[in-house]
Parts: sequence; C-alpha cells; structure tokens
Amino acid sequence: MSSAPSDSSAERAEGCAEGCASLAPRHVAIVMDGNGRWARARGGLRADGHRAGVRPVRTVIQECVRRGIGALTLFAFSSENWSRPREEVMALMALFVESLEAEIPELHAQGVRLRFIGERVDLDARLRASMASSEQTTAANGRLALQVALSYGGRADILAAARRLALQVERHQLGAEQIDEPTFAAALALGGLPDPDLFIRTGGEQRISNFLLWNLAYTELYFTERLWPDFDAAAFEEALRHFAVRQRRFGLTGEQVEAGRGRGGAPGAPGARGVPGARGAPSAPGAPSGESGSRGEKRDGDATGR
Ligand code: FPP
Repeated sequence: MSSAPSDSSAERAEGCAEGCASLAPRHVAIVMDGNGRWARARGGLRADGHRAGVRPVRTVIQECVRRGIGALTLFAFSSENWSRPREEVMALMALFVESLEAEIPELHAQGVRLRFIGERVDLDARLRASMASSEQTTAANGRLALQVALSYGGRADILAAARRLALQVERHQLGAEQIDEPTFAAALALGGLPDPDLFIRTGGEQRISNFLLWNLAYTELYFTERLWPDFDAAAFEEALRHFAVRQRRFGLTGEQVEAGRGRGGAPGAPGARGVPGARGAPSAPGAPSGESGSRGEKRDGDATGR
C-alpha cells in the first residue's frame, strides 16, 4: 500500500494518463528504505539488500533524465546510520566507492551533475576522493542535478547554515536583519536548488527521519510499503501519478489556488533556481487530494536511525 489517500485522489491518479507529464515535479527527494528487510526475507545479509538497492538508484536516475525532472536527492546514509553494526557500515562504504567508480561514466554520458551533501570529514579518504573526482567530472552537466546525502542530517544542516551566517555577521559581511528565508535557504546544503516538490519513502515507515528538514516544509509526501530493492520504474511512475493530482496550496485556500491558476501559480512555490532542465513550477496542479499521512513523530523510534 502507499499512504497515498484511499479517497478519490487515488482513483484520479489511476486515471491520469499522459497528461500527467505536465505536472511532473521539478525536484524529487527519496528515502530509500527497506534494504535490510528485503535481504532478510531472502535469507541474506543486510549488505546484500544494500547491493540490491543500487539497481533502483540507477532506474530512478534514468527515469528522471527521461522525464525531464531537473533534480533528484537521495538519502543514502544518515548521520545516525553510523551507529549501525560496524560490518554493515563498512559494507555500505565499500559499496558507495564501488558504485561511484562503476557508474560515473554512464551518469556523465546521461548529463547528470552529481554532488554530495553531508559531513564529508566523517568519510574515509578513498570515498572522499571518489566523491570529489565524480563531482569534478560531472560539474558541467545540465540534465539532472543529482544530490546524494552521505553522513547527512537535517538538523546538522540547519545548524551549519546558522553558524555560517553567524560568522558572516560577526565579520560584518552581513547584517542580522538581512537574514531572511532565501538567505537562510541558500546557506543550506541544497542552497541554489528549489525545494523538493515530491518526497518518496519506501519500506512502509511514515516519517522524514532528519532528511532535509528545512527544504521539505511544503513538499508533498508519498509513502509506499514497497521495499527499496523492489522499487522499479512502474513504482516511480505511480508516485508521480499521485503527485500529479495533489493540490499544492502553500497555505492558501483551495479556492484561491484555483483562482490563481494560470496567473503564475501559488505564492510560496519556490522558483526554479539552478535546476538543470527545470520547466515551469508545477504549482497548484489538479484537483484536491486527501492529505497523505506524515504521522509527525517527534523522533525516530527504529533501531536503524531512519
Ligand atoms: C535503508 O534501508 C538504506 C540504507 C541505509 C542505505 C541506502 C543505500 C543504498 C540504496 C545503496 C545504493 C546507494 C547508492 C547511492 C549507490 P535499511 O537498511 O534501513 O532497511 P530496513 O529498514 O529494512 O532495515
């Protein structure tokens, strides 16, 4: 199941054919959850599940490129994931290096610009070197901005931005009164990109788990029971269909949004800053939907720290 509403918006999503393309998100953010359970269900090691998780990463990237979605941000390893068993952490780090080295030529050929967000100092030297070299190789590409979050935490991101701005104030490079939302957003890890329009989490849990806390303020949330290694092009399309029928209100009433359609979209919808291939904002699309369930837990209760 997905937490896509069981009301008529799911039916509208079913009926949304080719026309949905015009309501595609500009930026998709994904929490790739369920690798461990996928592997356990097959009698394997958790690391086998992570390895199986590389294929859907490839698929989603290809789908974004094919569909002209300008930005994709993947949560690959959270600051809390360091507390996992050492063998699992080591296996994941080795997998990141291996995948990076193997996939870069193809990503480059597809026009993907790869960047990493998170605490690089925590990562080992070989991985950091691969990250830097892949960023350099793909820096001029313009079809898809791909961000991979490694050793990333949303609270740490906000704190780092606050410190950066505080330093500028201390050095008289910035006045405290100049710190507004755009200035603050620009100091965050995703600075320069529009906020994600669509957040997808696989694996059945319904929480954000310290991912992009600032940037997800108005993002549409989509949860699916499907485990990440099973997330294929059809599952991605289903998420896009659910997105296409959501009405994005940005605090306005549904009537205001309807009245504003065709007149530049809903206020609060961020502009397409720095997104390769970005098209117009998909603001206020379609008909109203039921709200999908972020249950708003204060803190992760799962042992995995996600
Ligand atoms: C969460 O599932 C997944 C991770 C912590 C790792 C994600 C990594 C990949 C998908 C590997 C490929 C990624 C790249 C960028 C090459 P889980 O282990 O918490 O699953 P569980 O909830 O079933 O235990």
